[in-house]
Amino acid sequence: MAKYPIFVLSLLALVCALAFAYEPSPLQDFCVADPTSPALVNGRACLDSKLAQADHFFLSGLNKAGNTSNALGSVVTPVTVGQIPGLNTFGIALARLDYAPWGLIPPHSHPRATEILTVLKGSLYVGFVTSNPENRLISKVLKKGDVFVFPVGLVHFQQNVGNGKAISLSALSSQNPGVITVASAVFGSKPPIGDDILAKAFQVDQSAINRFRAQF
Ligand SMILES: *[C@@H]1O[C@H](CO)[C@@H](O)[C@H](O)[C@H]1NC(C)=O
Repeated sequence: MAKYPIFVLSLLALVCALAFAYEPSPLQDFCVADPTSPALVNGRACLDSKLAQADHFFLSGLNKAGNTSNALGSVVTPVTVGQIPGLNTFGIALARLDYAPWGLIPPHSHPRATEILTVLKGSLYVGFVTSNPENRLISKVLKKGDVFVFPVGLVHFQQNVGNGKAISLSALSSQNPGVITVASAVFGSKPPIGDDILAKAFQVDQSAINRFRAQF
């Protein structure tokens, strides 16, 4: 069949495209991020593997609660390539989230990672919003031991819906998931997005925009 090789090639092209839609697979045992390297690559440059030590793959202290004394009553303790250089190129990360009573992780997205969260303590109301035009909120109240997934790139939030502290643990499909907090991106950018742009985008007058902006 003359068409067969074209079909095979198309399939191969598709598979390659899928493989590169996310972080590329490692080409060596590991690539400990070298903080001193001036090389700019898509990720961090590798430390000479002969210099790799156990501590490059290690972090302690995730048993300790973060300080939630802030306006939102929540704190994230990230475990990404920034904290563990040995995570470089592996497409995986972790985060501990602590919530004061009614504490909130505000609407945000991870541009490079799907997140899977499990509740270790307390109850959380969590949700994400699908993309345009539906913008459907998919949400649920979780209790200890429950697991929930936030798809890559979608805006999501978590709120402690109990009178005690809550703790959750998240795994993410990137060593450098990135965070875009909706409110700070829109109202807290430096330099600011023009008032006229935000007033028109949100269909309110400029005084409303100034009130939001004053929070940042
Ligand atoms: C928690 O953070 C608040 C506000 O920054 C600070 O006043 C307080 O001392 C911190 N508590 C601890 C235990 O570090």
